Amino acid sequence: MYDQLEAKLHDLFWAAEGQSEELALIEEFLQRYPGTALELGCGSGRLLTPLLEKGYLLEGLDNSHDMLQLCREKTEAFEPVLHQAGIENFQTGSTYGAITIPAFTLQLIEPEKISSVLNNIYQHLHPGGGLYLSIFIPWAEITGELEEGAWYLDQEAITPEGNNARCYTSFEVRRISQILSREHRYEIVDEKNKVLEKSTSAQKLTWYWQREMALLLKHAGFTTQQVIGDFTPDLPCDDNCQVLTIIASCDPDDSDATDDPR
Ligand SMILES: C[S@@+](CC[C@H](N)C(=O)[O-])C[C@H]1O[C@@H](n2cnc3c(N)ncnc32)[C@H](O)[C@@H]1O
Repeated sequence: MYDQLEAKLHDLFWAAEGQSEELALIEEFLQRYPGTALELGCGSGRLLTPLLEKGYLLEGLDNSHDMLQLCREKTEAFEPVLHQAGIENFQTGSTYGAITIPAFTLQLIEPEKISSVLNNIYQHLHPGGGLYLSIFIPWAEITGELEEGAWYLDQEAITPEGNNARCYTSFEVRRISQILSREHRYEIVDEKNKVLEKSTSAQKLTWYWQREMALLLKHAGFTTQQVIGDFTPDLPCDDNCQVLTIIASCDPDDSDATDDPR
C-alpha cells in the first residue's frame, strides 16, 4: 500500500481537489496543544511541509518507504525527524504535545487493533496533550449511490509533464462489519492514450460512527473536546456529515461526567 505509482500520484490527486481544508484545522489545533507534534501516517509530507514552513515543530511517521522518501525530499530544508514504523505498534521514545492522524488514515488500521493503537497514542502524549483525527463515512458506497463491483473513474489529474494520471476504483462494502474494501488501478497515459506507467493497490477501510469513535477514545483515556463536521467548524455536525474531525485531550474533564459520548 502507498508504494510506487500510488505514492507518486498521492499529492497530485489531493491537489486536484483544491486547497487542503484540513490544514487550517490542524494549525488551530497545534496552537491549542503546543510543543513538538507527531503526524501519524504523514505520507509524502503534503500537510507536514506547509506546517514546518510556518514554524511548527513536527515529526512524521509512516510505514511506506516510498512515501517517506518523497517526504524526506520535500522537507529537506527542515530535516524533521521521520520514523518508518507502523501505527499499530510504534515506539518513538518521545512524548508529544500533540498527535495528528489526518486524511482518514486511522481507518486503514484493522478494527481489532484500534483500541491498542489509541492506548499507544495516549502513552505518547504529554499529560494534557491533544489528539486530532479525521475519519469519513463512505455514504455513497453504503447507500448504493456508487455501484458495488463496478470500476469507476475515481481521480484524475494532469502530471507536471502534461500527461493524464487516473485512478479507477472498484469496491465491496460490508455494512454490518463496517468495512469498505477498495481496489485501485493507477495509470499515467500520454495525449494519445498510450499507457506510460501503471500499478494496482488494494485497501481495507473501516468506518466508525461518531458515538462509537467517542467511546473508543473514552476507553483509551481521552476526553473529546470538539467534533467538527465536513471541516467546517462553524456549522453543526449533523447526520448528513461525511467527514468527522475529532479533537480529544488526554486529561480527564468533568464535562464528560454525564457519560454522553457525543
Ligand atoms: C491517505 S494517506 C495520508 C498521508 C498524509 N497524512 C496526507 O494527508 O497527505 C495515508 C498514509 O498513511 C500511511 N499508512 C497507512 N497505514 C499505515 C500504518 N499501518 N502504519 C503507518 N503508516 C500507515 C500510508 O503509507 C500513507 O502515507
